[in-house]
Amino acid sequence: MTDTYTRLVSKGVGRDVAKKLGLPQPALLRRYEPGQPLVNGPLLVVGSSTGADALATDLLAWDLDVRRHAVPREKLGGIVLVLDELEKPSDLEEPVLRAAPSLRDLAPNGRVVTVSREPGGTPAAAAARQGVDGLLRSLAKELRAGATGNGILLADGVGATAPGALGALRFFLSARSAFVDGQFVRVGSSDGKLPDDVDTPLAGKVAVVTGAARGIGAAIARTLHRDGATVVAVDIPAAGDHLAEVANEVRGTALQLDITRDNAGARIIDHAVGRHGRLDIVVHNAGITRDKLLVNMDHSRWSSVIDVNIAAQLRINDALLASEHFRSSPRIVSVASTSGIAGNRGQTNYAASKGGVMGMVRATAPLLARHGGSVNAVAPGFIETEMTARMPFAMREIARRLNSLQQGGRPQDVAEAIAFLASDAAGGISGEVLRVCGQNMVGA
Ligand code: NAI
Repeated sequence: MTDTYTRLVSKGVGRDVAKKLGLPQPALLRRYEPGQPLVNGPLLVVGSSTGADALATDLLAWDLDVRRHAVPREKLGGIVLVLDELEKPSDLEEPVLRAAPSLRDLAPNGRVVTVSREPGGTPAAAAARQGVDGLLRSLAKELRAGATGNGILLADGVGATAPGALGALRFFLSARSAFVDGQFVRVGSSDGKLPDDVDTPLAGKVAVVTGAARGIGAAIARTLHRDGATVVAVDIPAAGDHLAEVANEVRGTALQLDITRDNAGARIIDHAVGRHGRLDIVVHNAGITRDKLLVNMDHSRWSSVIDVNIAAQLRINDALLASEHFRSSPRIVSVASTSGIAGNRGQTNYAASKGGVMGMVRATAPLLARHGGSVNAVAPGFIETEMTARMPFAMREIARRLNSLQQGGRPQDVAEAIAFLASDAAGGISGEVLRVCGQNMVGA
């Protein structure tokens, strides 16, 4: 699944022609490879709070070139804007305008990350905190050349150097978040733990991935394996050959299973524990579409989508929550969709199921918290897969370009966000939905 246009306009004559005609010029995004530098140049940390000082000190331990003041015309890999002590809207001006000129010096694929508090407190504090939301989302739309802007929201009582905040900062700064833009992630507690080895944050974990025979699920299996996990790849028996290929490639095991079966949860637990001795991570990725305008919708289209995309997940989660084998910092990550947030013509059934996934993770978070666990969702936008390759050409081109990065994401981009949320660094993040959509312009 390639985006030929992006390759054509990224260099030489193609780039010059696109520029002259005012056509979109999507950048080639820097994607994660183990061992690469976290960012492409020094990191500027702006902010005068104690949180900003503590964060700058912690970042030095990551072997980064940390600047507390901009050096004129020095190319920057990223800017971290710490706004964790805002009391009123006018408090925004000094740090924001101090950081502003440095945006010009951001290297291609550079990063801007805000660290602020979730809205709350006095009306003036809430206004300032909510102001960061509008600020960051607008700034992300101003960035160019593959640069992204994302934000970390700290709950009251959570410090800027809590594991979840540092984990989210590392994810947003790194090339793992290439297609995440204009998004916030909320760190609700100081739970979690940074990995001993940043290249294998999932070492020693056993992870189940549903719908792993192809597309995004296969990419998730590969990414979790790369990050150190042992993978159980699940898919329907009809996809058995592809499933076996993926399982062999990631040196894991295959489980042929229709997730809508009543005993699917027990089968998953028995397989993981029986073959690998434990179960730490479950990724609910399997999903189907049966598009039709609601006026023409029939029972089979409606019920099959609800059953695979959400009812099966709920049943499997019930089995996981009841199992004594899923109690050691367990992690669940579900794949939702931006259709479930913004809606999509012809997808009432699908959007209801994906909205359902988001409701499910919010309500399940407290149930897993008692075992030190977390449950989150990732909502992909336009991702280059077999599913989107089947879209009519014009519709596909529009869907691809209508985001701040002017291109579709790759299955790997979704997988990277899932791998982050499945890691112990994200332990303080639960009940959240993280969009991987390049900051879609359409809908929410
Ligand atoms: P895909 O159709 O390429 O792969 C889905 C996999 O799930 C297939 O291997 C299929 O056999 C498996 N599956 C379906 N029903 C199953 C069942 N009952 N039991 C076990 N396995 C089953 O889809 P793709 O594009 O890789 O999507 C993966 C997930 O990402 C889905 O949940 C989809 O809704 C979601 N998504 C995809 C987007 C995209 O742009 N491709 C955008 C937003 C969300």
